Amino acid sequence: ISLKEYNTFGIDAKASYFCEVTSVEELKEAVALPNYPNKFIISGGSNMLITTNINALVIHIAIKGISISKEDSANVWLNVMAGENWHNLVLWSLDHNYGGLENMSLIPGNTGTAPIQNIGAYGVELKDSFVSCNALHIKSGEIHSFTKEECKFGYRDSFFKNEGKGKYIITSVVLKLTKKDHNLKVSYGAIKTELQKNNITKPTIKDVSDAVIAIRKSKLPNPAEIGNSGSFFKNPIVDKLIFDNFSQNNPDAPFYALPDNTYKIPAGWLIEQCGFKGKRYGDAGVHKNQALVLVNYGNATGNEILELSKKIQNSVLEKFNIQIEAEVNIIK
Ligand code: EPU
Repeated sequence: ISLKEYNTFGIDAKASYFCEVTSVEELKEAVALPNYPNKFIISGGSNMLITTNINALVIHIAIKGISISKEDSANVWLNVMAGENWHNLVLWSLDHNYGGLENMSLIPGNTGTAPIQNIGAYGVELKDSFVSCNALHIKSGEIHSFTKEECKFGYRDSFFKNEGKGKYIITSVVLKLTKKDHNLKVSYGAIKTELQKNNITKPTIKDVSDAVIAIRKSKLPNPAEIGNSGSFFKNPIVDKLIFDNFSQNNPDAPFYALPDNTYKIPAGWLIEQCGFKGKRYGDAGVHKNQALVLVNYGNATGNEILELSKKIQNSVLEKFNIQIEAEVNIIK
């Protein structure tokens, strides 16, 4: 079957075999099926670029459910199953006036994959509300529980992208949200501007979510209309020496100084300076409003997008002597 509908880049790769699981028990059975030596897990399909047909049993995670596992007067602990769509979860939490996820509105993908790259936007990351997760250990068929510390979250990074890669399938996530006295994070420039534009001086979590949705809609392509995986690259983090040299040559470049004396430089800016913003090569392209996002206008192959990404990396390296790394998972 074609996986075009199962990856937000809309790449028309074929899977040899395909099944969908709606419970942890079904997932365990599918992973243990002896007749299919290769298994490939797909969930929201929002952070992958598939460059080849998948010669495996593709297991689509569709395990649903949101429940309250614990609460006190100030907080609620939600147990969310892996196949819950992330943005639906954010909307559900807003409907119940639970705070903590509003800045991460409209991020594509499912809840079970959110910890893998510690999704984040507008000054908030998953790790800020994350408590623990359960994951199927593929080799033993057992469910292991991971605390926040064990997940080793970093910028777009976790245990599951490193030591745990390919060994675990996250089945559920516990998040701790606020019931009152919400800790709003509105210092991010674009959010401030959006709230001011609407004359909102005392924002609610819903106002913050609406602001984020408006910003994202203005900058980021909707995967339902144009295939994409959000930011294709990570923003590079460089040490002081490299940064000083960079900023002398590029005094107008935006940057964020990090607490450990390193500097994060927006890859979108670097790519735009190299002239790629809005460029199109066949059906592969660079989004016109956000150069960090590569897009599939319809029938681009995974390899065409990959080639474009390499061209961009080389060009940024040549012009700025900075290496930018892919954020999306490239399936070869
Ligand atoms: N910029 C440009 N040209 C561009 C794009 C950006 O000059 O084409 C400049 C902007 O003017 C701004 C700076 O780069 O000064 C940062 O841009 P923006 O606020 O759009 O954020 P970003 O650093 O490009 C990151 C995340 C996004 C997240 C936003 C908001 C990464 C890899 N990306 O993008 O995450 O939504 O911040 O918090 O960290 C994603 O991961 O898929 C994603 C969309």
